[in-house]
Amino acid sequence: MRFMKKDILDIHSLDPDEISLILDTAMGMKEISQRPVKKVPTLRGKTIVLFFQEPSTRTKLSFEIAAKRLSADSVAITKTGSSMVKGETLIDTVKNLESMRPDVIVMRHSSSGAAVQVARRVDCSVINAGDGIHAHPSQALLDMMSVRENKGRLQGLKLAMIGDIAHSRVARSNIIGFSKMGAAVSICAPQTMIPAGIASLGCTVAPTMEACVADADVIMMLRIQKERQNDVLFPTEREYAGCFGLNKARLSLAAKDVTVMHPGPMNRGVEIASDVADAACSMILDQVTNGVALRMALYYLVAGGSRHADTD
Ligand code: CP
Repeated sequence: MRFMKKDILDIHSLDPDEISLILDTAMGMKEISQRPVKKVPTLRGKTIVLFFQEPSTRTKLSFEIAAKRLSADSVAITKTGSSMVKGETLIDTVKNLESMRPDVIVMRHSSSGAAVQVARRVDCSVINAGDGIHAHPSQALLDMMSVRENKGRLQGLKLAMIGDIAHSRVARSNIIGFSKMGAAVSICAPQTMIPAGIASLGCTVAPTMEACVADADVIMMLRIQKERQNDVLFPTEREYAGCFGLNKARLSLAAKDVTVMHPGPMNRGVEIASDVADAACSMILDQVTNGVALRMALYYLVAGGSRHADTD
């Protein structure tokens, strides 16, 4: 199968075969990071611009490391370090970036839809590294990769997702992705953090956290996104943890071989207890490891794979 998409903007626009191809390609990339010399020449001569207008540890670093592992040249620009602080618009900024002939722009932006707007105006590939509360496709793809690697499948699994669904682009992308791949997704949060119509993305809303995690094969905990909240949506962090935090007692309700996930950054003692975050069933750091391979796969597929096979 040939991957023909110019951009990776959201999970909604990927079909199950494309998702499977991305996950298979990422699994093939994983071994490169285990070599003594962690570098292959696959994308030599390609230029990748990392344009992050929100803070990031995992996504930015793994996109940068992924570029280096494939021998692409990567350069980073931030909002505060760019001429946007002098009033230049986002579109003028990316048109100027495009004039320097990059092959891929990876961008994170606080506004939902920003990556789509940019992708329509530039000829190079655009990878959305998170836009507002809309989408975080590379996170959902690395999460699906991690679960498929751990469980051997996605079809038929029960995924419980608990946390700030309303403000989470990770939640939206994972609900769409996992349900597309045949998993049953159950979500739970305070009513103030469950957006109207969320079930139309392909999930069910559980009445309690206990009901949500019961017999779950995978539990994904989400951070409270205070930076995107205008109102106080729960009384105190202590009360939130009491009702919606993952602790050992709640974990015991899940399937015997349950796997715990968190996209990071996590707030220990709020949405997840430390002894759960560090338990043997936690694959939180495995998600980060897979993030490098997954992003190598995205670069390869949009900038060096079959889209360019006829011109290589
Ligand atoms: N998961 C995630 O997006 O983490 P960062 O904000 O650190 O990139």
